[in-house]
Amino acid sequence: MKDQNWLKEHNARSMWHPMTAPSDSLMNPPTIITEGHGVKIIDVDGHEVVDAVGGLWNVNLGFSCQPVKDAIYAQLNRLPYYSTFRGTSNDAVIELSEMLRSFFAPDGLTRAFYTSGGSDSVETALRLSRQYHKIRGEASRTKFLSLKKGYHGTHFGGASVNGNANFRTQYEPLLPGCHHIPAPYTYRNPFNESDPEKLAQLCLQALEDEIAFQGANTIAAFIMEPILGAGGVIPPHKSFMPGVAEICRRNGILLIADEVITAFGRTGSWTGSRHWGVQPDFMCTAKAITNGYFPFGAVMIAEQVVEVFENDKTGAAAIGHGYTYSGHPVGAAAAVACLQETLRLEVNKNAAIRGAELHEGLLALQKKHALIGDVRGGHGLMCALELVADRETKKPIDKATIGKIQETAYRTGAMVRVSGPNIIMSPP
Ligand SMILES: Cc1ncc(COP(=O)(O)O)c(C=O)c1O
Repeated sequence: MKDQNWLKEHNARSMWHPMTAPSDSLMNPPTIITEGHGVKIIDVDGHEVVDAVGGLWNVNLGFSCQPVKDAIYAQLNRLPYYSTFRGTSNDAVIELSEMLRSFFAPDGLTRAFYTSGGSDSVETALRLSRQYHKIRGEASRTKFLSLKKGYHGTHFGGASVNGNANFRTQYEPLLPGCHHIPAPYTYRNPFNESDPEKLAQLCLQALEDEIAFQGANTIAAFIMEPILGAGGVIPPHKSFMPGVAEICRRNGILLIADEVITAFGRTGSWTGSRHWGVQPDFMCTAKAITNGYFPFGAVMIAEQVVEVFENDKTGAAAIGHGYTYSGHPVGAAAAVACLQETLRLEVNKNAAIRGAELHEGLLALQKKHALIGDVRGGHGLMCALELVADRETKKPIDKATIGKIQETAYRTGAMVRVSGPNIIMSPP
């Protein structure tokens, strides 16, 4: 490793960072992380803190998961790469597919399509859902519906269904035919409704209204996170996702569950869809599938979609989509080991128990600090504090104050993530 002074001097000089202005990285050089052990990270100055971000909601098993590291090393030595495009496969990805099939059986998902990460998984699900309707002779179904405040990565498809202007405005025009409905976000919503159940019903009515307005036969799919993550950890009322699923089914619209964060236990259930008792048509996964140690993802596909593709005799089901790294053997080997560890450690149960503790602790903090306007969580290890300058008016907090809070937390022992007015916590 280069020495500390060299690293600091060159920090952000020759690279642009995602999700910030290049000038910001130059003025406020990023924290340089050089080691990670267990649930802790160490920076270039030797300062050690708990990583309350869990990498980026992906290092679910912490930084010392030896079986995943060993699997990566062994696979690199045996077969470091081979493609899964038409005509070739590899042993690691076949083993993984069988494991995923049994892991996701309770969700009704029986096939995997591999990707290099979350944005790829979203893009794949959007594209395959259009193709599903074309195979069935409903080529008019091309539009996508989604939730405001939803986050679905940054590819053009994902940004188009994204519900946050920060990821959209500078990149417009986006994909036509993408429409958004209000999120079940009790703290702020256009209905001024703070009761979660009533708000869920209002959002469902808005969905019905949008479908009627667009025409059901123009809509391919609805995409949502079972618990909205990057938008500020927004768990909907338990009636919401089942309500969405029912409306979609009644209207012939496919339901894509974006579980890039929520799959593999983070919500306290093995998947976010299972948490709410819903079986989606597609499920996007990535992140914790390899514990963040290798860029990898899988789109899981429901049996009724599988049948349409596999029974096609016209050639319309030929998949003209995929990535060089789809089914990468090293990613697959990492995922096999990661899934074994995830199951062995019963990560879902731990996330439920620790998540409840974290949520309680945050509610107690809210009693002490007027600037905590809203505390969200209560479903596994994903929580957020929404900070306000004034509780009465809910005026959002200024950037400098929230920056100071993050800095103080870091100095006193915890890395937390700031996203707009929210402090987000998603520890390993
Ligand atoms: C719900 C959801 N979908 C998609 C993505 C995009 O994943 P990636 O950053 O791996 O492309 C993310 C990333 O945080 C996410 O939270």
